[in-house]
Order: sequence, then structure tokens, then C-alpha cells
Amino acid sequence: MSDKPMALCLVLILSVARTAWTDVLSTADEPSFGQPISNVTIPVGRDALLVCVVDNLATYKVAWLQVNTQTILTIATHVITKNHRISVSHSDHRWHLQIRDVRESDQGEYMCQINTDPMISQVGYLKVVVPPDILDYPTSTDIIEREGNNVTLRCAATGSPAPNITWKRETSGLIPLPTGEEVVSVNGTVLNITRVNRLHMGAYLCIASNGVPPTVSKRIMLIIQFPPMITISNQLVGVQEGKDVVLECHSEAYPKSINYWTNANNTILSNDDKYESSFSDNVHMDAYKVHMKLKIRRIKLADYGSYKCISKNSLGSTDGTIKIYRTEPPTTKPTTTTTTPMPTVIIVEKKPRSRNKSTSTVSTNINEIVNVLNTSSNEKRGAQLREKPKYEEKHGRNYNSIENIRSPDKTAQSMSSSKSCAAIYLFLNYHAVVFIILINIIF
Ligand SMILES: *[C@@H]1O[C@H](CO)[C@@H](O)[C@H](O)[C@H]1NC(C)=O
Ligand SMILES: *[C@@H]1O[C@H](CO)[C@@H](O)[C@H](O)[C@H]1NC(C)=O
Ligand SMILES: *[C@@H]1O[C@H](CO)[C@@H](O)[C@H](O)[C@H]1NC(C)=O
Ligand SMILES: *[C@@H]1O[C@H](CO)[C@@H](O)[C@H](O)[C@H]1NC(C)=O
Ligand SMILES: *[C@@H]1O[C@H](CO)[C@@H](O)[C@H](O)[C@H]1NC(C)=O
Ligand SMILES: *[C@@H]1O[C@H](CO)[C@@H](O)[C@H](O)[C@H]1NC(C)=O
Ligand SMILES: *[C@@H]1O[C@H](CO)[C@@H](O)[C@H](O)[C@H]1NC(C)=O
Ligand SMILES: *[C@@H]1O[C@H](CO)[C@@H](O)[C@H](O)[C@H]1NC(C)=O
Repeated sequence: MSDKPMALCLVLILSVARTAWTDVLSTADEPSFGQPISNVTIPVGRDALLVCVVDNLATYKVAWLQVNTQTILTIATHVITKNHRISVSHSDHRWHLQIRDVRESDQGEYMCQINTDPMISQVGYLKVVVPPDILDYPTSTDIIEREGNNVTLRCAATGSPAPNITWKRETSGLIPLPTGEEVVSVNGTVLNITRVNRLHMGAYLCIASNGVPPTVSKRIMLIIQFPPMITISNQLVGVQEGKDVVLECHSEAYPKSINYWTNANNTILSNDDKYESSFSDNVHMDAYKVHMKLKIRRIKLADYGSYKCISKNSLGSTDGTIKIYRTEPPTTKPTTTTTTPMPTVIIVEKKPRSRNKSTSTVSTNINEIVNVLNTSSNEKRGAQLREKPKYEEKHGRNYNSIENIRSPDKTAQSMSSSKSCAAIYLFLNYHAVVFIILINIIF
């Protein structure tokens, strides 16, 4: 009977061994997480997927919970929640929680839990982002304001994260700051413009962005009203009889002005054979500017005088006056442009000829006399006179030629003595002749 204790002993040993073995096994088989849950950022409306990697699950079960609502979403492959956008699936060690058509309320922590004792869990974060959207209210609609007033443009936008708002002008234009500085863009929900003027007129863009595409913008028109203003660069216009002339005014007004021209009798000039008025506006850039033109054909004596360009809008009316005066036709040679004081000599050119062969006559007493005396000396003198403007053109003032023109006597003196005698001879009466001749002989 010595076998029995032996057998008992073996059972005990086996039993101990088995206990030790199962202890070892149970530690090794305990479920564990293969990796942390990746945080997920997803735009609203898309599908999100959270993944829990579990090793050694054995007969334990994986559950997904929404932490902030304390809701059990799934257990193993069963969806517990009534939320039909939730589903669960697994492949090997990976347990997927899928949330379709994500909403902002879905944002938060999600827990992957295993029903061990004690239970083990890990948490992942679902971040739901929302692209920016500009609210109709209190965002400004188009603004109409009088020049000189203060204007506030507002823009409100939703989105997650909260969008930043930037203001820009649609066309290349700067935004004035209250400090007087001018900038390309301004950040903030409110854009204040103090004492607006016509240069601030135009489209402004409120742009909302938060890093989630698409960035959105709203266009707000700022319309500045002001009474008409007229500027004229040339208020005195000289024109010859028979010629055409064009008068020009620049008008600025908003609302757009009614523009027209009148004559001195305040008669509105309509387009006909005589008058042609045109009003061109700069459609895109500065809608408030108009370039007014009036063409008057074949100016007659009665056409000289004052004309008015008139601009009227709901805020007021203004006009500008342009005077047309008569000018003489220019002489065939541009001698009238001389800047030196003209002597009593008037040059009348009958035939333009080559300089050395000129036969021009100079109609003063002295020159007539000289003319009588010797045509060749007259030629010389004529040449001097006619050369004068040319010298001035080329070399500025020519002292000698000016001198000659200012004092024709000196020119006469510069002639040869015989010619002087002859000239004086004609000036004086018969009785003095002998005396003069005597003097000439003595010297
Ligand atoms: C997920 O985000 C939380 C904070 O929201 C952070 O503590 C955690 O480390 C993040 N996990 C991963 C895997 O990036
Ligand atoms: C516009 O703002 C300026 C400065 O903020 C202020 O001095 C002025 O009185 C305001 N004008 C109007 C019409 O409100
Ligand atoms: C406006 O904000 C943007 C970033 O959103 C920044 O780059 C820019 O410098 C800011 N401008 C001003 C004038 O503050
Ligand atoms: C804009 O002007 C209003 C008053 O008209 C003022 O209350 C506000 O602080 C100003 N905002 C900015 C950004 O200057
Ligand atoms: C808003 O602008 C600031 C800097 O101006 C920047 O630090 C921040 O990240 C921006 N916010 C968003 C949502 O783009
Ligand atoms: C202005 O009226 C007067 C008298 O009605 C007339 O003689 C004159 O020609 C008119 N002038 C113009 C520029 O039409
Ligand atoms: C005029 O005469 C000068 C000399 O007196 C001579 O040099 C010049 O060539 C002449 N000009 C003409 C156009 O004959
Ligand atoms: C005129 O003067 C020139 C010399 O300057 C002389 O040759 C010519 O004979 C004179 N003619 C008369 C009509 O005196």
C-alpha cells in the first residue's frame, strides 16, 4: 500500500504545478493595448474613425464609450446607442469605432474599455472643425454715407476654431486708419473709418478664415455721397476765328450728376452742327468722375465769351466758367514769339526768300530812307533784323542784333561814311549840304 501516498503526492505536485502554470498563463494572456488611440481632427459632415488596438483579448470584450455624455456606444460588435451614425467593426487586433456625418456635438473624448477585473481603458480625442461662415446679421450690408461722416463696417462669422476676420478693399486701395495711416488690410470684426471721403468709396471684403477650408468672404459696398465739384485746368482759351475749339471740365459727384454746357445766355447747348458735347465716365475705378467736353466748330465773332459746364445731383449743383478769347492768326514766320521789347520797326515780309537775297522792306522812315540810298545796305539790314529770332532760338539773346534793332540810328552810323553823308543829305535841307560835305572832308 505504499503506492497510495505516492499517487497523492503526484496529484499534489501536479496540482501545484498546474496552479503555477495557470498563474503564469493568466498574466501572459491578460488583454493589453497595442498603441494609444490616435487623436482625430475632422471637418463637420465627414466620417470619423477611431481605432483601438488590443492584444490578447481572449474572451474579454471591447466597448466604446463617449466620455462627456457617459454613453456606452458599442460592446464587442454590437451597437448599443440609438445613434444610427455609430458603427463598430474589427479586424485582428484593431477595433474601429466609426462615426458618420460628424457633428460639432460629437467632439470630445472617446474611451476604448475592456471588461477585465479591474477593467482597463484608454481615451482618444475627436476634434470637429467647422469652416468659417459669415453671418448675415450683424454683418453690414451695403452702406451709403455722406462725405465727412464716420462709418463702421461690421463682420461676424462662425466656425471652429473661431475665425479671424480681415478687411481688404476689392480693388487695389488702402484702408485709412483713425491714426491717419493707410494700410492694405485690417484685422478685427469692426472696421471704423472716420470722416469718409470719396476716395473711400468702393467694395470692401470681409474675409473669415480659421485654417479650415474654404475661407469665405463677403463684399460690402461703401457708397459715399457728395455734391458736385468741378475742376477746370484751362479757364481761358484763345482761339482764332474760323477754328474749332474744345472746352474741358472735370466733374466729381455722387450720386451721379446731370452734366451739361451753357453759353453766356444760359442756353443749354445741345449737340448739332455747331456744338458737340461728350461726357465720359470712368466706369470701374472712380464711378463718380466725369470728363466733360464741349467742341465748338468754326468759331465766329459771336461765339467768343463765357461758357459754363454745369453738374447737378440731389445734393447740390455747381458750375465752372471757361472764357474763349480771340487770337490773331500767327504771322507766317514765328516772329511774334520774341521776348525782347519790340522796337518801332515792324517787319513786313512780302516774299519769303533765301536770306542773302532777301528783298524785305522795313517800313519806318529811316528804313525807307536807307532803302532809297542803297539796296545792298538795306539787304544787309533786313538780314540782320530777320536773323534776330533765329539767333535767339539758337543762342539765346544776341546782344548785337538786339542792339541793332533797338537803335536803328546806330545801324545807320555803322554804315560807311559816304552812305552817312548821303543819308543826312536827304534829311537836311539844301542849305546845310555844303556844311556837311565840308565836315566830311575835314575828317
Ligand atoms: C490627444 O490629445 C490629447 C489632448 O487633447 C493629448 O493629451 C494626447 O496626448 C493626444 N494623443 C495623441 C496620440 O496625440
Ligand atoms: C467721427 O469720429 C471722430 C473721431 O473718432 C470724431 O471726432 C467725430 O466727431 C466723429 N464725427 C461724427 C460725425 O460722428
Ligand atoms: C492680421 O492677422 C494675420 C493673421 O491672421 C496676420 O498675419 C497679420 O499680421 C495681422 N495684421 C494686422 C495688421 O494685425
Ligand atoms: C469703432 O467705433 C465705435 C464707435 O463708433 C467704437 O465703439 C469702437 O470701439 C471702434 N472700434 C474700433 C476697432 O476702432
Ligand atoms: C488668428 O490670428 C492670430 C494671429 O493674428 C493667429 O495666432 C491665430 O492662429 C489665428 N486664428 C486662426 C483660427 O486662424
Ligand atoms: C445771347 O442772346 C442775345 C439776345 O437774345 C443774342 O443776340 C446773342 O447772339 C446770344 N448770344 C449767344 C452766344 O447765343
Ligand atoms: C549768305 O551769305 C553768307 C556770307 O555772307 C554765306 O556764308 C551763306 O552761305 C549765304 N547763304 C545763302 C543761303 O546764300
Ligand atoms: C551800294 O553799295 C555797294 C557797296 O556796299 C556799292 O557797291 C554799290 O555801288 C552801291 N549802290 C548804289 C546805288 O549806291
